[in-house]
Amino acid sequence: MCGIIGYVGPRSAVQVIMDGLRRMEYRGYDSAGLAVVADGRLAGRKKAGKLTNLAAELEVDPLPGSHQGIGHTRWATHGGPTDANAHPHYSADGRVAVVHNGIIENFTALRHRLEADGVVFQSQTDSEAVAHLLSQGLATGLDLLTALRQVCLQLDGAFTLVALDAQAPDRIVAARRNSPLVVGVGQGENFLASDVASFIEHTRDAIELGQDQVVEITPDSVKVVTFAGQVAPTRPYRIDWDLSAAEKGGYDWFMRKEIYEQPRAVADTLLGRIDADGRLCLDEMRIDRAKLRSVDKIIIVACGTAYHAGLIAKYAIEHWTRIPCEVEIASEFRYRDPIVNASTLVVTISQSGETADTLMAIRHAREQHAPVVAICNTNGATIPRESDAVIYTHAGPEIGVASTKGFTTQIVACYLLGLYLAQERGIKFGDEVAALVRRLAALPDQMQQVLDGLDQVAELARRQIEARSVLFIGRHVGYPVALEGALKLKEISYLHAEGFAAGELKHGPIALIEPGLPIFVVVPPQGRDSLHDKVISNLQEVRARGAWTIVLAERGDQEASRWADCLIELPIVPTLFQPLVAIVPLQFFACELATLKGYDVDQPRNLAKSVTVE
Ligand code: M6R
Repeated sequence: MCGIIGYVGPRSAVQVIMDGLRRMEYRGYDSAGLAVVADGRLAGRKKAGKLTNLAAELEVDPLPGSHQGIGHTRWATHGGPTDANAHPHYSADGRVAVVHNGIIENFTALRHRLEADGVVFQSQTDSEAVAHLLSQGLATGLDLLTALRQVCLQLDGAFTLVALDAQAPDRIVAARRNSPLVVGVGQGENFLASDVASFIEHTRDAIELGQDQVVEITPDSVKVVTFAGQVAPTRPYRIDWDLSAAEKGGYDWFMRKEIYEQPRAVADTLLGRIDADGRLCLDEMRIDRAKLRSVDKIIIVACGTAYHAGLIAKYAIEHWTRIPCEVEIASEFRYRDPIVNASTLVVTISQSGETADTLMAIRHAREQHAPVVAICNTNGATIPRESDAVIYTHAGPEIGVASTKGFTTQIVACYLLGLYLAQERGIKFGDEVAALVRRLAALPDQMQQVLDGLDQVAELARRQIEARSVLFIGRHVGYPVALEGALKLKEISYLHAEGFAAGELKHGPIALIEPGLPIFVVVPPQGRDSLHDKVISNLQEVRARGAWTIVLAERGDQEASRWADCLIELPIVPTLFQPLVAIVPLQFFACELATLKGYDVDQPRNLAKSVTVE
């Protein structure tokens, strides 16, 4: 939700900032802007629309050469996506420029106060107030760092702020509360950004900024203090991926690249989890065994695709651990007064590790003394930092707004957690756990088989280009797969799509079916129980009403193929593992259809990758 960057050093600030914004555009793309200091004055450009609009503006009207600047790519909250509302925002005296990510909740009161002082606002944003407050502080003789600290003490809400002062050469200041900010530490140059991807080509050394901290960077120094002014300890770390991971590598879209990266991402997430004695070991699990043994309920909390991963995990976790497991949408969790206490294990799932709804759920759970385990893909993000333990998914950077490898690796990490709990509580023997982990380890190859057969899905997308509505049905773990297939289609193809529990159709949604309506049916593996046959019955019911059925079923499933207008064969895997292979054609279908319709797959309208507001 908004990408922000700051740079001081010998390179061209405009170049560094524009390159950095390009790699953070997934965070928000309804306007962009930058400001630099040149000859003791601020100069800036900002433009509504995608970053290309700003780049075009800079071609026509370049900025002066500078080695100190800030930039922003926006996902609008206060005020529409116009040139005026684009960042940076300037103080009335032209001395200060500010970029902001987040929401300043007491903005109305601040604006009224500033207007009473005679300040005339140029935009409808909450962010502009910060520029005016900062210049008021500087006018009293405060240095830039102190002035920013004092402004932060007046703000409520979530914010990362980066500020430039025309009269403070070679330095930039920034602050964070409830919103991400990292420092990139270079040689004779330093960076500030929402995401390490923006400076990864220049340095892989980074420092996480803690909650309620302010930082000042110069080319040769990084100084971090709390809002109260105390020197804060810093947490340096090394980023374990490089520029190539943040580039498209020959694919048309990041999403397509990330779909194809799934076998590798799943394999990496499983790597090193079994110790020499064959026991499952989760190095990052910092909750002691006694506490894990006393858990009598698990609540999984997440949003969007991560929530769907949680819905799938529930089946496996309850099956393996026999602990009751609830799954809840994070934005609903704390507002219903949930029953959470020290024996409730709260598991949060978040690719970005910055989702505000999930973060607030964690804080609520911890207030009730519940231990919290985060499943997260982003090293050092706020969610893992505020949790008692973390299981990292090793998917590498996920840039496409529609989550793909994030989803499959989240399922795998949840499964590892379920097996670990079963092992530590003595519900499963070590060899049973090891056998299941071995079955999981076979999945990357099986996912690759699905990827190798996707031509058929590309053809299917061509055939369905005129579809107005698409349904998805499944039972058991196939139900959340149906929900996720529908979400992918909604978010990038802007198509009406719904996922249903197959058994629920007859209670209402079956009325939607009309001749030719495409329905994806996720058929479970042919097992010992009646699950498979029940879905076959549902398949016949929709076909009898004229639906055009696209059936995902395991190889050799004769019964399923009889009722399929289009059959997508899946490798033979256990029921609980089927989501990892079944989701791949659905992700690809959405990507392909959106491409054919001419939509921007990586930056769908109205969305942002990292949702840092509630
Ligand atoms: O970063 P998170 O996993 O916490 O994000 C949660 C959702 O915002 C995210 O999964 C969203 O639904 C995706 N755009 C879905 O593709």
